[in-house]
Amino acid sequence: MLKLLLAFLLCGIFVDGSVNTKGLGALLSPKATIVNTSSGAPRWSEFDAPTPGVVVNVATEHDVLVTVQFCISKNIPFLAQNGAHGWSTTLNLKQNGILVNLAGIKAVSFNSAKTQVTFQGGALVSDVVNTSYANSALVTTGTCNCVGTLGAVLGAGFGNLMGLYGFGVDNLLSLNVVTPSGTHIAVSPSSHSDLWWAMRGAGPNFGIVTSAVMKSYPANSTGLTAWNGPLIFTGDKVEALMEAIGQINLQAQMSMEMFFLISGGSPIILLTVFYYGTEAAGKSAFAPIYAIGPIADETAIVPYNQWNSGGDAFCTKGDRKPSYGAGLAELDPTTWRSVWDEWLAFAQIPGAEESAIILDVYSMVKPRAISDSYSAYPFRSTVNYNAIATAWYANSSLDGSAETFGSNVRNLWRSTSGLSSNSTYINNAFGDEDLSVVYGQNLGRLKSMKAAYDPFCRFTQWFPLK
Ligand SMILES: Cc1cc2nc3c(=O)[nH]c(=O)nc-3n(C[C@H](O)[C@H](O)[C@H](O)COP(=O)(O)OP(=O)(O)OC[C@H]3O[C@@H](n4cnc5c(N)ncnc54)[C@H](O)[C@@H]3O)c2cc1C
Ligand SMILES: *[C@@H]1O[C@H](CO)[C@@H](O)[C@H](O)[C@H]1NC(C)=O
Ligand SMILES: *[C@@H]1O[C@H](CO)[C@@H](O)[C@H](O)[C@H]1NC(C)=O
Ligand SMILES: *[C@@H]1O[C@H](CO)[C@@H](O)[C@H](O)[C@H]1NC(C)=O
Ligand SMILES: *[C@@H]1O[C@H](CO)[C@@H](O)[C@H](O)[C@H]1NC(C)=O
Ligand SMILES: *[C@@H]1O[C@H](CO)[C@@H](O)[C@H](O)[C@H]1NC(C)=O
Repeated sequence: MLKLLLAFLLCGIFVDGSVNTKGLGALLSPKATIVNTSSGAPRWSEFDAPTPGVVVNVATEHDVLVTVQFCISKNIPFLAQNGAHGWSTTLNLKQNGILVNLAGIKAVSFNSAKTQVTFQGGALVSDVVNTSYANSALVTTGTCNCVGTLGAVLGAGFGNLMGLYGFGVDNLLSLNVVTPSGTHIAVSPSSHSDLWWAMRGAGPNFGIVTSAVMKSYPANSTGLTAWNGPLIFTGDKVEALMEAIGQINLQAQMSMEMFFLISGGSPIILLTVFYYGTEAAGKSAFAPIYAIGPIADETAIVPYNQWNSGGDAFCTKGDRKPSYGAGLAELDPTTWRSVWDEWLAFAQIPGAEESAIILDVYSMVKPRAISDSYSAYPFRSTVNYNAIATAWYANSSLDGSAETFGSNVRNLWRSTSGLSSNSTYINNAFGDEDLSVVYGQNLGRLKSMKAAYDPFCRFTQWFPLK
């Protein structure tokens, strides 16, 4: 009882109403701006999105520090925004809150050996990829240009090169963090090593990363290309594909991303195949997939700065996109037929044609060579696949059917996941999950770290560890 009361007092409810930013402007650098509405910072999904009263567009890393200090001193809730793709309903900042928009700090630079990249808290995947390409180096980013590099990496960071080089978190070297107590500190294996562990999997609970240093991999002109692109299949191939994807030998150079989509009015399966190497090696590695008989093959040798282009349509901001994720150890063909049927029924509703099912298939060769205890990402040794159901529409009258669709599909996945507990990559979770579903076996340790580092619950938005 006392504990409950204490938690309530320490993590008390914030006062409702509008934000008084008097005095903040004088603390910020000249190029920073304070605006009253959220319209200046659109989000990927408007479904249950944050509705801050004020947006602070920071222009320097120091602006992040003074904004957080200001919020702490006035007891104002706040949330950092980077690529704005976080769709979790736990992001629920209201009119009494300040959105700290990191889009203005996105510098990317390399050391002379091209073995380390430094990028700021608001750098998008495209900022990092373009600069890396220009520096003849590869970085383990996510696979969509529009996503915040750190937004993805702080949860684990899945991407095409992870079979070779590991998760994003496995490649981080150090972080500059604005903490819940309003300090700006370096976090690395030799500086606040417990926070170093926690930030790499549960980062948004413990601070705002203003810049990060990550490993990068120098490459010659051949090394700056890969064989990839979409294969298209008809809907009757669901079971055969799931069987083949589940059984393929997923070498370190390989990854796949599968979509159920409506294209030109017809439902299709689009499977993007990726092989870091030649076309011949790629086609041979994916022979079991080719054997199923794609109706179209748009694979090619593609330069590094265009690997993510296929995802650009999925980057479109705006509209409502409630999304339900599930981690899987195995793929059950019968379940996936039911998922196809559920998806098709929803996507055939007028206005919901963009709705999609997504399956990420990444090689775990390198991630599994690293110990479970290396970072706070909890599913390194258990989850093999990430699946997402995204309902996409504009009219909020579809919210109810979208939620039914998403949770039905998630129930199907969970029922045959092959896992001993429901386990969802935090960056793919809907927002209604028990904390154990996203933090797994690390929940206890993370909660006690939260109590130590953020006793007043300043960071309350991202699957908050209360
Ligand atoms: C189109 C699309 C493609 C995706 N592709 C991938 C992928 O290839 N790989 C992958 O792993 N995931 C992927 N995801 C999932 C993605 O990782 C999450 O949606 C992630 O939360 C998005 O980060 P963001 O910065 O864009 O979003 P935001 O909403 O801006 O941020 C999400 C959360 O992270 C926090 N955050 C962001 N930046 C910082 C920072 N610098 N310091 C502290 N906290 C921060 C925010 O405060 C917020 O709580 C994808 C999502 C979408 C919608
Ligand atoms: C924001 O709105 C408040 C009143 O709600 C007003 O006093 C203030 O000047 C506005 N600030 C900006 C930057 O427009
Ligand atoms: C990255 O490069 C691509 C292709 O060259 C270009 O279209 C895109 O605008 C660039 N993005 C950024 C953020 O520089
Ligand atoms: C490019 O790099 C790859 C691997 O790093 C190597 O195998 C290849 O020989 C190099 N090619 C040239 C032309 O240097
Ligand atoms: C949204 O859908 C409802 C119910 O079908 C309909 O009455 C309404 O006109 C739609 N709104 C828009 C903006 O299309
Ligand atoms: C997993 O989630 C399903 C609902 O989707 C629920 O019925 C089941 O009990 C959960 N399993 C565990 C182990 O909590």
